[in-house]
Amino acid sequence: MNNNLIIENLTMSFNDNIVLKNINLEIENGDFVAILGKSGAGKSTFLRCINKLHTPQSGKIYFNSNDILKMNGKKLQKLRQKIAFIFQDYNILDNLYTIDNVLTSFLVNKNFIQSLFGYYNKDDYKLAIKYIEKVGLYEETFKKCKYLSGGQKQRVAIAKAICQKPEILLADEPISNLDEKNATDIMELFKKLNEKKNITILINLHDVNIAKKYSKKIIGIKNGKISFYKDTESVTDDEIRELYI
Ligand SMILES: Nc1ncnc2c1ncn2[C@@H]1O[C@H](COP(=O)(O)OP(=O)(O)OP(=O)(O)O)[C@@H](O)[C@H]1O
Ligand SMILES: [Mg+2]
Repeated sequence: MNNNLIIENLTMSFNDNIVLKNINLEIENGDFVAILGKSGAGKSTFLRCINKLHTPQSGKIYFNSNDILKMNGKKLQKLRQKIAFIFQDYNILDNLYTIDNVLTSFLVNKNFIQSLFGYYNKDDYKLAIKYIEKVGLYEETFKKCKYLSGGQKQRVAIAKAICQKPEILLADEPISNLDEKNATDIMELFKKLNEKKNITILINLHDVNIAKKYSKKIIGIKNGKISFYKDTESVTDDEIRELYI
């Protein structure tokens, strides 16, 4: 199947505030899509709807032909394993070590007793350490996360999401707290995951240049509506400028 994410007539409001207005789009398998728009445009809300962190008032979101918005309980939990989310304000547990935070991504596949005692196997550890190293945190593997900087915490969250082996990675401003070197390393890591493992990437970005450099397509959101959705190389400066007016 080519389109693994199909969004139809999606409308989302908080009380009287309509934040997303009748969104229609399809994301192809293995695509790398950047979402641009000014603060408050609805970028985070859009991403959060995709794995049902918000429940829209109307519309449909199909993932491999299944309607996400109808999912609950175990089904929804399974879906969130396949569609990983990196939060704008990284949600990791401060009192856990880096390694334990990353290992929590394997809990979904454990039974109750195993998860109660934090039972992880050798492969879990191997994968967790591989990605801790890839996000540049090898030295911090056994540090408690409360002692890490904001950028380091963000990278813990990224390693955790990747360890889920998702089909789709939703990333909400994942590099906003990182310095240039770390931001580039993380974007290169996303690129590799996209190219080598065919993980579909949907990423909210503030930095237009980074979006242009790494994405294959760009979604421009303005006031909760799609201004454009097209191949990155065909997006004009005027179209970008228009988003931020
Ligand atoms: N949980 C919420 N409850 C009420 N209103 C919300 C909630 N989340 C977002 N909003 C509102 O929805 C609108 C869009 O917010 P959203 O966070 O999606 O914007 P954004 O494009 O991600 O902005 P930013 O670039 O600043 O992260 C804003 O007006 C915001 O106040
Ligand atoms: Mg946001």
